[in-house]
Amino acid sequence: MTVRSILRIGNPLLRQESRPVNDIADSGIKALVQDMLETMKDANGAGLAAPQIGVLSRVIIFGLDSNPRYPDVEPVPLTVLVNPEYEVIDQETIAGWEGCLSIPGMRGRVMRPKAIRYRGYDVEGEPVVRDAEGFHARVFLHEFDHLDGKLYIDRISDLSQFGYIPELEAAGLLPRVRQESDR
Ligand code: NI
Repeated sequence: MTVRSILRIGNPLLRQESRPVNDIADSGIKALVQDMLETMKDANGAGLAAPQIGVLSRVIIFGLDSNPRYPDVEPVPLTVLVNPEYEVIDQETIAGWEGCLSIPGMRGRVMRPKAIRYRGYDVEGEPVVRDAEGFHARVFLHEFDHLDGKLYIDRISDLSQFGYIPELEAAGLLPRVRQESDR
């Protein structure tokens, strides 16, 4: 397992569409996922998409135990999804703060559907289907967007709700988070 470097906004690879994985049994995917897990953990992230380490394959991971970068959100099971898809099951949208390891030190408030059903395959090629709402749905949708070359900043409708973490905290907009690696 290797901690890979995370591409930052401005790198054109983050704006490309990733390709579906044809053969999940291919050991390359397991190695990729191991590196992604290690990289996400090292960065204290809640999620990571393969293109963020420069691999344009439709693979995402996410999960949140108690993460100091996100002190006020409910836990999300550690999940690996190859070739993910989703449908919205509650059209209501809710606002929430998002950050991205490719946009370090910043947060923005983004509207996302309240509840979704996502599906995909784990590293063994077994199907995964799950209903998710709140932060769980948000983190899936954020990572899914990476596979289509989209970043959360593309979805911020009010740019007064975007900025550096300390400034947003000082303004009382963002709940205070502990000092972390992405500052
Ligand atoms: Ni991201």
